[in-house]
Amino acid sequence: MNGPREPIGVIGTGYVGLVTAAGFADLGSDVFCVDIDEAKIELLRRGEVPIFEPGLAEVLSRNRERIHFSTTLEEAIAGARLLFVCVGTPATYAGDADLSAVNAVVEAMPASSEHALVMKSTVPCGTGRAIQRSFSEQGKDALAYVSCPEFLKEGSALADFRKPDRVVVGADSDSWAAEAVAALYEPLGAPLVRTDVASAEMIKLAANAFLATKISFINEIANVCEETGANVLEVARGVGLDERIGPKFLSAGIGYGGSCFTKDVSALKLLAANSGYHFQLLGSVIEVNELQKRRVVAKLARHLGVLAGARIGLLGLAFKPNTDDMRGASSLVLAARLAAEGAHVRAYDPIATAEALRVMPELDCAQRVEDALEGADAVVLVTEWPELVALDWQKVAAAMAGNVVIDGRNALDPVAVRAAGLIYEGIGVG
Ligand SMILES: NC(=O)c1ccc[n+]([C@@H]2O[C@H](COP(=O)([O-])OP(=O)(O)OC[C@H]3O[C@@H](n4cnc5c(N)ncnc54)[C@H](O)[C@@H]3O)[C@@H](O)[C@H]2O)c1
Repeated sequence: MNGPREPIGVIGTGYVGLVTAAGFADLGSDVFCVDIDEAKIELLRRGEVPIFEPGLAEVLSRNRERIHFSTTLEEAIAGARLLFVCVGTPATYAGDADLSAVNAVVEAMPASSEHALVMKSTVPCGTGRAIQRSFSEQGKDALAYVSCPEFLKEGSALADFRKPDRVVVGADSDSWAAEAVAALYEPLGAPLVRTDVASAEMIKLAANAFLATKISFINEIANVCEETGANVLEVARGVGLDERIGPKFLSAGIGYGGSCFTKDVSALKLLAANSGYHFQLLGSVIEVNELQKRRVVAKLARHLGVLAGARIGLLGLAFKPNTDDMRGASSLVLAARLAAEGAHVRAYDPIATAEALRVMPELDCAQRVEDALEGADAVVLVTEWPELVALDWQKVAAAMAGNVVIDGRNALDPVAVRAAGLIYEGIGVG
């Protein structure tokens, strides 16, 4: 590396902010982190990490000298030109993106020709233009603006930071800040998509919408497979070998979850609607995903007869393995629907229990997987954590009162499950 690396500010220390901070610190930058959550900043200052993300604690710890934490912006503004905005943009009740956290940061930005706001948060197309207009109204014209959307996946976020498929940098063509952001990412060797702000914003939304569409598509194929006797695993293999399609995101299951797909697909659909265009396809993608979560309830009812009084073990709660994130998790819908039918749900997750109880305090959570299995009439694999996929099915069968196993992720070995005398049912696998 030639010379010292550019220091950066990171505003918002959630999944994206902490991974961005850790990743750039590891590359040699000083990083000034800011969050309004005092308790979170206090934890981080003590060297504790408020979220679970593989490898994150180690990388933050080995860069402790370089990473500074504060609840106010002053230190970041004094120490860095590039201020990466990583605050949340959850859905509003109406389903649009809630930009209140973004707007609070925009308000707090200095009127400075030496600073740039670098937007990593996912925002609707047109937000950058609106922010630049608001800068202008506030006499902050000189402040630079860059859209640099984030594509990391929770569970492999640090690896994704280090080896991104591409880095997207959207800004005016003569922007010093865009060059500085591109230079920061340059050591990662990823293809650079240097574009305008609106296109950068749309790239992020379109990418998430496309991935969600792929999942809903294969889930519908799986549902047709169930009616026709085909096996969606075989179908996905055969379809995915087509270079134009590719094998990824063709895993049928009980629907996508997580904070991003759910809200970003809805935000794009409503962005289109607000602009006068009816994005029909995304309406179906969302509906298929919602129904997919509920189909498991129908499968359980088919095997058990009545659900009232049935004991159901949910294996896994997090929206996917290797994270404690419960936002948009299919387990929440499943648990709520089963409870509404009168079933007794007992759930187990290796990491996400505390977070699940924060979101759904009435959920009965087991501390050990054995306790979720004991006396269950049926179990549902919701999250394919390795330890759950590797369960000893003879022991599971001995612990259960009933014999139904629904594999919501097509991740189990049907032969091993059936060899234990259990009924195996996956998603679209015949
Ligand atoms: N989580 C992902 O997998 C992922 C991936 C790509 C993009 N994104 C996008 O990145 C953004 C952040 O997502 P996340 O999952 O990291 O969110 P998060 O909820 O985990 O973290 C957001 C953080 O911002 C803080 N914050 C809120 N208002 C603030 C303010 N005014 N000043 C400083 N801090 C403030 C919150 O306290 C919180 O710690 C979202 O727009 C999301 O859509 C997320």
